[in-house]
Amino acid sequence: MADTMLALVQRNSNGKPAFSKEHIPKPQPEPHQLLVKISHIAQNPTDVQSFDRNISGDGAVFGCDFVGTVEDVGKDVTRASKGDVIVGLIRGGEKKGIGAYSEYTLADQRISFKLPASISPAAASTVPLAAGTAWLALFSKDCLGIDRDKGSQNTVLVWGGSSSVGLYTIQIAALYGFKIITTCSPRNFDLVKSCGATHVFDYNDPCVVQKISEVEPNLQYVFDTIGNDKSSVTASQAIRKEGGELCTVRPDKSFTENVTNQTKVTAVLVWTAFLKENRFLDTLWPPSKEDHELAAELFENIPAWLESGKIKPNATSVKKGLDSVKDGHKEHRDGKISAYKIVYELKRLAPILKLQADLVSCILARNKDYEHRYIPDRSYEHFRLSRSRQSKNSGGHKCKNSDQSHP
Ligand SMILES: NC(=O)c1ccc[n+]([C@@H]2O[C@H](COP(=O)([O-])OP(=O)(O)OC[C@H]3O[C@@H](n4cnc5c(N)ncnc54)[C@H](OP(=O)(O)O)[C@@H]3O)[C@@H](O)[C@H]2O)c1
Repeated sequence: MADTMLALVQRNSNGKPAFSKEHIPKPQPEPHQLLVKISHIAQNPTDVQSFDRNISGDGAVFGCDFVGTVEDVGKDVTRASKGDVIVGLIRGGEKKGIGAYSEYTLADQRISFKLPASISPAAASTVPLAAGTAWLALFSKDCLGIDRDKGSQNTVLVWGGSSSVGLYTIQIAALYGFKIITTCSPRNFDLVKSCGATHVFDYNDPCVVQKISEVEPNLQYVFDTIGNDKSSVTASQAIRKEGGELCTVRPDKSFTENVTNQTKVTAVLVWTAFLKENRFLDTLWPPSKEDHELAAELFENIPAWLESGKIKPNATSVKKGLDSVKDGHKEHRDGKISAYKIVYELKRLAPILKLQADLVSCILARNKDYEHRYIPDRSYEHFRLSRSRQSKNSGGHKCKNSDQSHP
């Protein structure tokens, strides 16, 4: 069994996909790759969408964001060693048997980073896919291509600021001093402001376009992190008459046919971070050295930004083991996810940490406000974030997490 691993595999019966926990062969790292034993996996919408639409077929293993320990390295690897705990990204479902809903997976040495000491593995697992998407959407020449050197002269509208991608986009844009306008539900207004948004509006407000234009009549850049049947069209109406760019999260640019005439539409595909050809549905992206270098720059810098508190990871709701993936997927389908990410923990926490976390949760649960907002599986996150805020007095953005209002 040494060369096999447990994985959650898509099996089709009567044309319908279902999950099956199976022993399958362990993947072998290519020269630039790391073999990683996974401890935490963050769920992304693509995991659910690809499974539900049967995009990858029988034998696929989903899961893209993960944290784990390096167990083996390819012959050209210079940036990581066996035993390192790393935060990585894999395009789950692309190759049969390779994904993060699994005991082991593969990481690219440049599109991964070592887990910073002050960040919990669960929180760190929320970073790679969403932050990578945000970064490429803002700065890739094939997306918005915003000039970072222009700092506060840039204004960007982030449609869907409380989504995982939106929260990382706001924080990255804030790092470069951009003026940031965003939309989300009123319950998340304080959160997006604490991440660096200058102005926030309710996307359901019938006057949302008018309100955005009042605060920024000269809007050039829009990143639509939602990509639904209304978001791109509505957001495009806020773009200045002289013209501007809208980047959508829908790689096939769906729902952009009716954007305003002054809007040039681009699309982000996070997989261009990897130096290889990428297919999405019927479209083929040739390898992009520029996007790969750009993404590698993010992965080089992000550990320090996380350590300093300039970038705060998403809040998490932690579930135990691969058996809970079906519940996590349902939570996504039910539209319940708002400003947090589901994380699956495969390895148990060290008993002493778990004991401390439970104790803190117990004390805090007596507080009425906390009781109201308490999400059971966030106990460890709550403990860690409270502690890190006490011990560090970082000068970065106070991006509010689920527990911020508590002592
Ligand atoms: N092209 C790529 O490479 C790529 C990469 C990553 C993600 N994506 C896609 O990007 C989308 C976002 O991913 P994610 O992980 O960030 O999602 P997510 O965190 O699961 O999104 C949930 C959030 O969406 C917000 N939302 C829902 N409808 C909205 C609307 N009409 N207008 C504004 N906000 C709305 C909700 O805000 P409130 O709770 O405040 O209402 C909620 O916080 C997904 O469709 C995903 O497939 C694409």
